[in-house]
Amino acid sequence: MFKKSLLLGVTGGIAAYKAAELARLLTLDNFDVQTVMTKSACHFIGPITFQSLTGNPVYSDLWETNATNNMAHISFSRNVDAILLAPASADFIAKLANGMADDLLATICLARDCPLIIAPAMNRQMWENSATQRNLSLLRHDGVIIVGPASGEQACGEIGMGRMVETCELVRAVRATLQTGSLQGKNVLVTAGPTFEAIDAVRGITNSSSGKMGYAIAQAAMEAGANVSLVSGPTCLSPPAVGRFIRVVSAMDMLNAVQAEIAQTDIFISVAAVADYRVAKINQQKLKKSDRNLSLELIPNPDILMIVSNLPKPPFCVGFAAETDELERNAEAKRHKKNLPLLVANWAQDAIGSDESELILLDDAGKHLLPKATKIEQARRLINHISSLYKLK
Ligand code: C5P
Repeated sequence: MFKKSLLLGVTGGIAAYKAAELARLLTLDNFDVQTVMTKSACHFIGPITFQSLTGNPVYSDLWETNATNNMAHISFSRNVDAILLAPASADFIAKLANGMADDLLATICLARDCPLIIAPAMNRQMWENSATQRNLSLLRHDGVIIVGPASGEQACGEIGMGRMVETCELVRAVRATLQTGSLQGKNVLVTAGPTFEAIDAVRGITNSSSGKMGYAIAQAAMEAGANVSLVSGPTCLSPPAVGRFIRVVSAMDMLNAVQAEIAQTDIFISVAAVADYRVAKINQQKLKKSDRNLSLELIPNPDILMIVSNLPKPPFCVGFAAETDELERNAEAKRHKKNLPLLVANWAQDAIGSDESELILLDDAGKHLLPKATKIEQARRLINHISSLYKLK
């Protein structure tokens, strides 16, 4: 039966009171929960609460002498399958981002060799502060899984981003993270973001695409045990800690990068919004403005996905279609034209730039709706679906 060991790290914030319910839910969900609290967390809630709910002793002191080898930080981080920090305060996030180890919980996190999931919770202004955002992007880059925060009324009376996400969502995130192995050892290639087709030295044509969905899929494939290569057009995102990250600009660059990887790819997930056309002749100098009309000759770009899916021995290919009208009809037509076992359809107006999406998966068995959820959650569901189809292949 599914029994995993989880270290619940509680840091100092008012949302610490919700961590007690979380400990209860995780225990009921068959996790063996070990709780470690910071000194400030103990001001908000008592260790006895967690001890009673989990049936395990609670630690907060780096100098705890009960640990058999006096190295609680090493034994803890070796004996658990994952660490969940809930709530993760702004101060603790700053510590993690800088690799500090000045208390038991921070030392365990630094010594870990398992996934780390954090649920930030703080006042909205602390959340928006560029120092906090900088720290979070460092953590994201280091492969830390960040869940939330949510928006709404805060304990301080203000309204905005910074509430800890609901406890049931955290339980789901832990389960999803530990459901690794479905793509263990498989090589997954993901394209993401837009491409940029230069007109002259300073101008170009591009598509609206934040890259968020592609990056989330790369992260989810990694969590499922795959070796992931991510080929990305220009985005403002920090890449997840994938095996290979290849930054490209134009569709032709993206095609070259994909072709260099494809021979060793098992699954190709084409999420990029590739520009359909490029400029026939790129001006090396900046074009001068005039009052006359300007015509540009555009030539079609190669369809990267179609090139891959028509290879003599193609990898398992997954396409995306963002449509503004007749979603299912247009998406199914694309799936047949591009010869794909699976195509993911979404409404362009809902998905672009947003942190959430609603997806329709179209495959030989029909359609499967993934109701609205955050992109990382959708990515994990999609990866589950891909791994089950891939195994049937
Ligand atoms: O642009 P379109 O709707 O045809 O995109 C459908 C799928 O084809 C997407 O998965 C996209 O990444 C891929 N595509 C591609 N190369 C193109 C155009 C689209 O790989 N030139």
